[in-house]
Amino acid sequence: MKNVTPAINQNLKGSIIIPSDKSISHRALMFASLAEGKSVIRNCSKAKDPMSTLSIFRDLGVDIQNIDENTIIVNSTGKLKPLNDVLDCGNSGTTMRLMCGILAGQPFSSTLVGDESLSKRPMKRVIEPLSLMGAKISAINNCAPIQIDSAQLVGIEYSSSIASAQVKSCMLLAGLHAEGETVYKEPYLSRNHTELMLEYMNADIFSDGVITKIRPSILEPREISVVGDISSAAFFMAAASIVPNSDVVLKNVGLNPTRTGILEVLKKMGGNIEILDEQVVSGELVGDVRVKYSELKACTIEGEIIPKLIDELPVIAVLATQAEGTTIIKDAEDLRNKETDRISAIVNELKKVGADITATEDGFIINGKTSLNGGVEVDTYHDHRLAMSLYVAGLICKKEILIREFDWVDISFPEFETLMNSLM
Ligand code: S3P
Repeated sequence: MKNVTPAINQNLKGSIIIPSDKSISHRALMFASLAEGKSVIRNCSKAKDPMSTLSIFRDLGVDIQNIDENTIIVNSTGKLKPLNDVLDCGNSGTTMRLMCGILAGQPFSSTLVGDESLSKRPMKRVIEPLSLMGAKISAINNCAPIQIDSAQLVGIEYSSSIASAQVKSCMLLAGLHAEGETVYKEPYLSRNHTELMLEYMNADIFSDGVITKIRPSILEPREISVVGDISSAAFFMAAASIVPNSDVVLKNVGLNPTRTGILEVLKKMGGNIEILDEQVVSGELVGDVRVKYSELKACTIEGEIIPKLIDELPVIAVLATQAEGTTIIKDAEDLRNKETDRISAIVNELKKVGADITATEDGFIINGKTSLNGGVEVDTYHDHRLAMSLYVAGLICKKEILIREFDWVDISFPEFETLMNSLM
């Protein structure tokens, strides 16, 4: 495993193309595998998480070919034929939870396994509602490995207590193979890539925001172009906002309104952000984002914006160390159930570099503006987003920091360091 030291006193200038969205890439691979015929996926993410999804569908008998750097062809009969009954989701929660929904209505048994971190993450949130649909699904202590046996599913109306796109997608995918209608309600709108892509592939689906209805459907193969990942772009938005004299253009950023909480927050904090050249690609809004250094002010982040920036909260904590005043983040208790407990992890590590940050049960409180001393070694907790958030903090420390086991970035963003270096 490699350790990394971010460069200090280096402003960021220039433009980069943001690599493919992880959430959309998972869905493109999954839904293309469920459709009968040939789908072409352009700009699919090659990061480790979506590659876990890809190898699972190969294990389920789907012909998936990497044609070139940019193109994946999925040739499917629309029916899954397992070559292997143990399916490895690696580190990917999205793979595991969405696969539960896909596998629950299949005429064969399978077992989903994951790495050490994924095997500790809560799966009751999908096991419980799928069981109400008649699924035969079980896991000791509601953690992976998850055993799924063949069952005939029936559509239900389900109101989720959490705003989770993974739970919503799991239920909608189960609804594709259930008798009658499946209705899913969520407390706040979470990312809606599943709804958009299923609609694009001709599923019988209707959504008015927090309520989505789906009926059994045959998916049609499509050409899907995956836009850039705003959750990856967020590290560059944060870095350019806090490193003095920075001015960057981030190209091809997905701007689906269920993901743009980071833009709303940066604007609220006084960030210098401009959106250029918006267009729609495969049903998703995309554009270029220009970000310049600016003096930031604190804000409160709570309620319905949380699902729109859930993955950005660790790097927002870094931003808040450079904002004048007290930033309060609330209603984000699910951060404790991510690749690691992201509340404890970011608080521990930012304290080490000199931030004034305190954990609460459902978020954190940061007093700024603080000049970060650095000069320490920090840990990634085997979490890609922790690693990149700490890298951004490292750019503004007075003394260099060393980030241990930085390779975890490969889970979502293997190009991170190369792109960062290209802006220096
Ligand atoms: C994801 C949904 C989010 C997010 C994760 C990816 C998805 O999880 O944190 O990185 O692709 O659906 P939850 O929906 O469980 O909050």
